[in-house]
Amino acid sequence: MAKVHVKSFPNMEDARKRVDHYITDRSDIISSPLLKSFAKGKKFYIRTYGCQANIRDSEILAGILTSDGFTQVEKEEDADLILINTCAVRENAEDKVYGEIGNLKQLKQKNKDMIIGICGCMVQQKHIITFINEKFPHIDLIFGTHNITHINEYLDEIIRNKYRLVDVLSNTCEIKENLPSVRIDKHKAFVNIMYGCNKFCTYCIVPYTRGRERSRNKADILKECKDLVDSGYLEITLLGQNVNSYGKDLNDGSSFANLLDEVAKLGIKRLRFTTSHPWDFNEEIVDVIAKHDNIMKQIHLPVQSGNDNILRLMGRRYTSKSYLELVKMIREKIPNIALSTDIIVGFPNETYEEFLDTIKIVKEVQYDSAFLFIYSPRKGTPAARIKDNVSYEEKSKRFIELSKEMEKIIEKKSNQYVGKTLEVLVDGESKNNKEMLSGYSEQNKIVHFKGDSSLIGKIVKVKILENHTYSLIGELVNE
Ligand code: 5AD
Ligand code: SF4
Repeated sequence: MAKVHVKSFPNMEDARKRVDHYITDRSDIISSPLLKSFAKGKKFYIRTYGCQANIRDSEILAGILTSDGFTQVEKEEDADLILINTCAVRENAEDKVYGEIGNLKQLKQKNKDMIIGICGCMVQQKHIITFINEKFPHIDLIFGTHNITHINEYLDEIIRNKYRLVDVLSNTCEIKENLPSVRIDKHKAFVNIMYGCNKFCTYCIVPYTRGRERSRNKADILKECKDLVDSGYLEITLLGQNVNSYGKDLNDGSSFANLLDEVAKLGIKRLRFTTSHPWDFNEEIVDVIAKHDNIMKQIHLPVQSGNDNILRLMGRRYTSKSYLELVKMIREKIPNIALSTDIIVGFPNETYEEFLDTIKIVKEVQYDSAFLFIYSPRKGTPAARIKDNVSYEEKSKRFIELSKEMEKIIEKKSNQYVGKTLEVLVDGESKNNKEMLSGYSEQNKIVHFKGDSSLIGKIVKVKILENHTYSLIGELVNE
């Protein structure tokens, strides 16, 4: 077995540390002559798990590898280089990755020169790296979320030295600009406006895996968005773990409200943003959303729980009352707003009565869509140290109870669209029925309808005929 060369190893204490000053690095990413000649005729495959931040990282990795001379392929078995970009937010996300890493062993037996790398949030945890190194000797490279732009150096080193390599920094003081990227979509784009999270909700691993909040300069963001508009993109989603905090670390008066306003003025057809934290979602932001027609009337506003004791234990910094007041203010200013949410069921020692408060808030808010999760203890987070007296079976029962309640609400909310004509940005053929096209409405509802493939990448009008709760079926309106 090749020996493991460790350049850096993460730890959670360092990941928590504040960074006083961030440096913006605009230098180009270099590819060595050795790597360039190695890449000729070689193919790479990237599998991405988790959130939009990971999707965006994979696009950047694909951009770097394509500039080196590699070609991207759709199947693992066709590749000479495989990267698995992982998610750590819940245990089941990690289990899937272990399953996949195990399967890759056979591929490597067939192609001994294949290079396999694991990156992303999962490997920001020391115990995971140790486990992978011991159990999966066919893995050649492990690198973290702060190290993605170093991929060329890693590949060069592995080819040269034939060792296995680990480089996972706990934190970073750098913001890298001018990154190449191959975007997965030709008409919708993600744009990072900031990285990391400072909220440290007690159940969440993200502040440790992605580091402290750091905002990109406004000029860099606006340039990226302007280039997207100029090259024909129709939709931009501004990304951050907590976009409302944008600019706080820049100390130059920048704010999310101002950034959103300026991006909207660039003339993109559809502008979205995610994710928002209810704690610092202010009236100014709501006013900007209300003011611009091209800012989609949809907000993802994770509530996590409807019970004040649980919210306090989660470290969420709001109460059910203040959350509801925020929803009221948003709905007064933007009556047609669609709201979606994230909810965690079964936080340690949550009582059934406390859980019922979550059902209560869900009924009160009447969400348009929701992601529901069973609490998953994440090693090193404060909540994972709490001794929990609720069984997994009980948590599963509550999860089903909440899912049923949510389904009724979503079905009712979706009914309002039947008979109406919606604008849909057409993504492509429908996954389950090749005869149909699919796309998203302004309020982020998936719509299926019959139409010609020439409509892909266009915004069309669709009259809604049927409500299928999580999707809508309609017919194209010819103008
Ligand atoms: N267990 C279950 N769900 C979690 N989330 C974050 N951490 C955990 C955890 N430990 C959920 C939250 C968050 C979403 C992205 O994932 O609801 O908003
Ligand atoms: Fe995690 Fe909370 Fe930050 Fe969201 S706001 S990424 S839940 S710590």
